[in-house]
Amino acid sequence: MIAVKNNVYTISTKSTSYVCAIRAGKYIENLYYGRKIGTDEFGITQEDTVTALKEKYNNCYGNTIEATADEKNITLNSLKMEFSNPATGDYRMLPLLIRRADGSLVDRLYYVDTVCYDGVYEESEATRMPYAGRHEVRWSNTPGVKQEWISDVTKRPMTLEVILGDDDIVVKLIYTAFEECDVITRRMVVINNGKDSIVIQQAAGMMLDLDRTDYSMITFDGLWTRERHKNEKFLVSGTYSIESTMGTSGNIHNPFFMLKSNEASEHFGDVYSFNLIYSGNHKEAVEVSEYGKIRVMTGMSPYNMEYKLTSGQTFYTPEAVMSFSHEGLNKASYNNHQFVLEHIVPRQWAHKNRPVLINNWEATYFDFNKHKLVKLAKEASALGIELFVLDDGWFGKRDDDTSSLGDWFVNERKLGGSLKSLIKNINNEGLQFGIWVEPEMISVKSKLYEKHPDWALKSKSGDTYYGRNQLVLDYTNPAVREYIVNTLSELLDENNIAYVKWDMNRPITDTWAGYGTESGEFFHEYVCGLYDVLHRLCDTHPNVLFEGCSAGGNRFDLGILSYMPQIWTSDDSDARERMYIQGGTSYGYPQSTMGAHVSAAPNHQTQRLSGIDTRFDVASMGVLGYELDLTRLTKVEKEAIRHQVSIYKQYRELLQFGHFSRVREDRQVTTWQITAEDKLAAVSLMYRFDAEPSLSYERLYAVGLDENRRYRVRNVASKVSIKTFGNLINMVSPVKIKEEGVLQAIIDNMYAMNGETEEYIVHGSTLMYAGISLNQRFVGTGLGDGTRVMPDNSARLYIIEAI
Ligand code: DGJ
Repeated sequence: MIAVKNNVYTISTKSTSYVCAIRAGKYIENLYYGRKIGTDEFGITQEDTVTALKEKYNNCYGNTIEATADEKNITLNSLKMEFSNPATGDYRMLPLLIRRADGSLVDRLYYVDTVCYDGVYEESEATRMPYAGRHEVRWSNTPGVKQEWISDVTKRPMTLEVILGDDDIVVKLIYTAFEECDVITRRMVVINNGKDSIVIQQAAGMMLDLDRTDYSMITFDGLWTRERHKNEKFLVSGTYSIESTMGTSGNIHNPFFMLKSNEASEHFGDVYSFNLIYSGNHKEAVEVSEYGKIRVMTGMSPYNMEYKLTSGQTFYTPEAVMSFSHEGLNKASYNNHQFVLEHIVPRQWAHKNRPVLINNWEATYFDFNKHKLVKLAKEASALGIELFVLDDGWFGKRDDDTSSLGDWFVNERKLGGSLKSLIKNINNEGLQFGIWVEPEMISVKSKLYEKHPDWALKSKSGDTYYGRNQLVLDYTNPAVREYIVNTLSELLDENNIAYVKWDMNRPITDTWAGYGTESGEFFHEYVCGLYDVLHRLCDTHPNVLFEGCSAGGNRFDLGILSYMPQIWTSDDSDARERMYIQGGTSYGYPQSTMGAHVSAAPNHQTQRLSGIDTRFDVASMGVLGYELDLTRLTKVEKEAIRHQVSIYKQYRELLQFGHFSRVREDRQVTTWQITAEDKLAAVSLMYRFDAEPSLSYERLYAVGLDENRRYRVRNVASKVSIKTFGNLINMVSPVKIKEEGVLQAIIDNMYAMNGETEEYIVHGSTLMYAGISLNQRFVGTGLGDGTRVMPDNSARLYIIEAI
């Protein structure tokens, strides 16, 4: 709901309020953003509220600049504002930097007007970028009707345009309220009404001033195989920022971040969260000012940005996303999860169960033929897996990573026939077929490069940098986009392909190619070009499940999720690392967006050993897949997988779309829970990082259940490999079993010990407030009935069901 009255605008969502007022006729003062407040109810007028909230100034602070002739005493450097001009005495970060043709700065953009309407921003389609609500809006040709809201499950949003300007330039601050998930989106629009060109050198989608500083900034940072680890920085004086200049949203700093008040936790307290619907370079910054305020900014990175607007042209920033929760980090995550599911991902996939897949990458890498693939599919099918994904190496002459990107034609020699015939074989095993592509890339050793060397991005100096032996295609060139759309459409239209993994394995460095897009505009134009291609491929193939990927999670963002409902979270599938990666990702993105696979042990990225059930338990907190050579597993492992897949299918809807919470981080144990919206069922994951000797008791706590219901709680039974006990097993074995010996291997192949079974009937209140005391953990002095064997890096799943 948005109300504009007497120069005050109030944006209300289910639990939050956002209030701004026009001050001195030209500035927009942010009066409040936080937990919902009454503004003109109960006999209190809006004026009373504004008077109470408005900053009081009688005198300017010393050594500062007076704001304006009308209200002389305001120090702009202290006022909480929605937009700030350069060279006006507000020395904090600026949301926009525009230079005129004569080199002067655009520095006096003042309030002009506000416009408010039902629905999303009316020029959303013209932005060339995805936007919230894209899949719920139909643009109308009927005169007078701009847009129809086609969703039957979510309330139509409302949009407010706050217009600022000078004689030549108009800037619009666009706000859209998504009431039911407590989200407000923001973007800025710049229109050049002057005769001369202007250059935009910096453009954030939003600026927000808050008036407390006792916050920490939580960011999600990392690298390849170590994406989105949570980092918390306590804010003192100065500016804290994260940025991506890689051409993608990047694995170094995700655009999602949070501001957590110092007293807040996962379950209580004030938390703001921010994200960006964008897949390119971005910058997020928080400035703690000496006047006890915080300025928050998120938007495009100014790195190599010189965007020229000729007379009459408009520039749109990407849409930023803000949310507030007074119920801690978990509620902030829940708001974001609901927003992603209801307003970002394609509607047809938002709540649709995702298939359990087998991917051949870590099973074969490039070394495969038809026989191997079909054998893998047969095994997968016997275990209940539903989708077979053929990864890298099926096209051109690609037997390693030095060639063929761009030649999206099947290598019949390698596949022993056509793609159609392979797909038929896979389908005959009862599996759907999916395929890997990397359409933004080109290998120098390729037919495409021979024909179009000018389609690859290079350095004008000739000294070009390669990543994984490959170059990036110039997606700013319409001919390149046409080629990719046509080639991939043909691939999808002529073959029975149910799933596509869209990879992108190197960041962008050089920004020059034959087509000649200006370097300062390149990064943004590249992303808009990518969206054009995705729109023409994904939107036209709504039944194909697209999974984003960029060397794992190098482009995990709301822009990609607008076309592809899930993303390969990381190339690192080690269970322990995934606790950090999926845990970090869970703050901003729901579990149905995270591809999570069970892979081999020792793990290919960390060489760590973890049990087959532990690997599953962690992967079950996302969209489950398997990525290992199923044909080489032991009988015990195959049985374990068959059981896992059936459990996952039984609880799939809950696991993929339930309400995700981070319950506890207790010493070495982390507990997550996914709860059904009706509170009748939940699945809980308990993960032990390091075994602590002689500390054997653990409690299982739950959240978000009905306190007055009875629940049955039971663990998902798992098997314990005899290898876990090394030569301790000889204390009970009638024959001597040598550690790592042949006998141990034979027994381990055929047999595993039964893990504990636990079952409890409890009240929701008991489970939530007292917790269940679980069976004793193995403490080194003997193995009793029902002992929980939980060494380093082990996990358990608990099923909680109302009875
Ligand atoms: C990087 C991806 O993240 C992997 O899963 C795999 O698809 C390889 N690329 C293939 O080259």
